[in-house]
Amino acid sequence: MNIKLALVPGDGIGPEVVTQAVRILDKIGQIYNHHFEYTTVLAGGAAIDATGECLPKETIAVCKSSDAVLLGAVGGWKWDVLPGDKRPERALLGLRKELGLFANIRPAILFEELEDACPLKKELIEGGLDLVVVRELTGGIYFGEKGFKQTEMGLAAYDVEQYAEEEVRRIAVAAFDISMKRSKKLCSVDKANVLESSRLWRRVVSEVAKNYPEVTLENMYIDNAAMQLVRNPKQFDVIVTSNIFGDILSDEASMITGSIGMLPSASLSQGNFGMYEPIHGSAPDIAGQDKANPMATILSTAMMLKYTFGLVNEAESVERAVKAILAKGYRTPDIMSSGMKPVGTKETGDLILIEIT
Ligand code: IPM
Ligand code: MG
Repeated sequence: MNIKLALVPGDGIGPEVVTQAVRILDKIGQIYNHHFEYTTVLAGGAAIDATGECLPKETIAVCKSSDAVLLGAVGGWKWDVLPGDKRPERALLGLRKELGLFANIRPAILFEELEDACPLKKELIEGGLDLVVVRELTGGIYFGEKGFKQTEMGLAAYDVEQYAEEEVRRIAVAAFDISMKRSKKLCSVDKANVLESSRLWRRVVSEVAKNYPEVTLENMYIDNAAMQLVRNPKQFDVIVTSNIFGDILSDEASMITGSIGMLPSASLSQGNFGMYEPIHGSAPDIAGQDKANPMATILSTAMMLKYTFGLVNEAESVERAVKAILAKGYRTPDIMSSGMKPVGTKETGDLILIEIT
């Protein structure tokens, strides 16, 4: 296969972890006979510094003309002083919208080797944990009307939560499709006891459910879901929810695994196109020090190989290699525990490369 990838290293630790992921992809290419062609583009703070804009037009164009996008992370202290619409994070939102990436797939997997990192009681995670949050990514309060107005209580600011039937339908279909490939259990999370937009959400999800008679659908309110996730996380398999609830629940789910530095994500549009990125952020405090864990980005390439290119063997090879070095006791500082062997970003890449077969 000839594969055209857009690389968006971004800020902080983004460039270092993307560098390691590219080495892994090249090795996969050699072994399985694929050719990866990369175009590196700017977004976030790096783009602000170079061009004055967080998401230059060229970046969008290159991403659109590629088969998939691999992103590191954006943001950092340096740009925190900028007004909301000029911040590096806007680049992420812009990419999601411009590329039509409405389905955000965020797996939360507790790696057996890292069970000690889980902050929950052992009995709650007996036998591991493997759930996935399917988050709507281009609608809701993130993209609704926003602004300011004068009220009796002084200046007010508002952000509108709004969902159209078709927006809910397509994310529900994506979630049911994923459920069909897993344990056929889907939990839709909303706030239908209060919000009109949630009542529409729940109605549309129930309509879509009729096409998936094998999947057991449960509806849960967001407050209860946040609580259930720490009370009994193993009751969940696939969770589907709105943009903002998904933002919150996916962070909570990743914390339960105890190793946010390990978790990949995929943002998909209609068709096979996708943007792949680690769940962790730009971690400016450790940037450039060879301390970052590149595994989440490397595992993001595995998701890319599987979801966009249908290369399941190649994806499994990457996943196996990551697990192998964990099993051998190699740990970056974020997942270090006593008796393990400390490694840096580059050495982690070196070790994973050796395991790729
Ligand atoms: C995420 C992040 C982003 C979001 C921010 C950086 C805009 O928190 O991807 O979860 O809220 O979607
Ligand atoms: Mg978030």
